[in-house]
Amino acid sequence: MKALFLVGGMGTRLRPLTNKIPKPMVPIMGKPLLERSILNLKNIGINEVVLSTCYRAQHIQKHFGDGQRFGMRIYHVREDIPLGTGGAIKNTEKYFDDTFLIFNSDILSDINLKELVEYHKKKAADVTIAVTQVDNPSMYGVIEYDENDYAVSFREKPQPEEVTSNFVNAGVYVFEPKVLKEIPGGRVVSVEREVFPKLLEKGYKIAVYKGCSYWIDIGTPEKYLQAHMDIMAGKCRISGLDFSDKGVYRGPGSSIHGSVKIQGPVYIGANVKIEENAIIGPNAIIGNNVHVGQGAKIIGSVIWDDVVVESGAKLVNTIVASNCRIKQGCEHYRTVYAEEDSRLMAI
Ligand code: GDD
Ligand code: MG
Repeated sequence: MKALFLVGGMGTRLRPLTNKIPKPMVPIMGKPLLERSILNLKNIGINEVVLSTCYRAQHIQKHFGDGQRFGMRIYHVREDIPLGTGGAIKNTEKYFDDTFLIFNSDILSDINLKELVEYHKKKAADVTIAVTQVDNPSMYGVIEYDENDYAVSFREKPQPEEVTSNFVNAGVYVFEPKVLKEIPGGRVVSVEREVFPKLLEKGYKIAVYKGCSYWIDIGTPEKYLQAHMDIMAGKCRISGLDFSDKGVYRGPGSSIHGSVKIQGPVYIGANVKIEENAIIGPNAIIGNNVHVGQGAKIIGSVIWDDVVVESGAKLVNTIVASNCRIKQGCEHYRTVYAEEDSRLMAI
């Protein structure tokens, strides 16, 4: 079985974090989200992946190459202009001649993919869409389904008064290759607005799978920060890390002064230097090659790689992008901070 990741979106809502990197490459606990998602596939025996790229495709190409480094085969299909989610799927048609998986690449979830595929077969579906329950369906694709769990209507980003169900498209699909011929080629197509409704009209069977226990779209800074807090609270399990007893992870080559107060859960990457009397945590995620000066405080925050937090600075519920320097004594609360840009978050 093969899988396709849609990775070409602009990541506008995640700015300024996506000023320099594409959205799927934002780090989750120190590792790009897309890398985590791709590696998860190996656990269910999938080792061939197609990446449909557009915005900052070079960055993704450079990181993954042909996949050898990850023990996988990775193919890159690049769009010169964004083709939309449906157009992107159509554009990769030649890679798929058997049942395959499709992922939006800004999703963090612990969905059981093996179970999803088995369910798809059991329902004899042409497409299966994983759905999840959310409080604010207006931001997503709302799906109505019948008593046998087959989709009956789709409404993408409906106005609040048009919301008819709390179940939304979770951005994970199982496709039979025969449906690809129903997607028009050579133009922009939305799988959500155009392809799914058309498939229904033509009598294809679209099953909905309701088995997601944890699910979040990390597409805004608020959600991105929330995802980290959820991992640290043990609500979402990611491989290799377990924070259920407020653990403290320290990467190799880190030097932490004996007077530093660390209150778990905390994640510290490689080659991190933390000086006297700094306070780290709870809920601090510090990337690689970060320098934290004397008496600095980092609480409820995510710090990317190659950051300097000067002495006495204070970061609370803040995200700091790579290569930033937080000046001595500066305090940031609920801020998304990148070199050339920063803004308050709505949390
Ligand atoms: N290759 C390519 N080309 N990829 C694209 C393009 C494109 O033109 N446009 C978007 N993508 C990718 C994005 O990178 C992302 O991984 C995925 O397609 C979905 O795009 P988003 O921009 O994140 O969509 P959304 O979050 O507004 O809505 C989608 O996801 C929701 C779940 O998070 C829809 O599928 C909703 O129905 C769904 O509920
Ligand atoms: Mg999204």
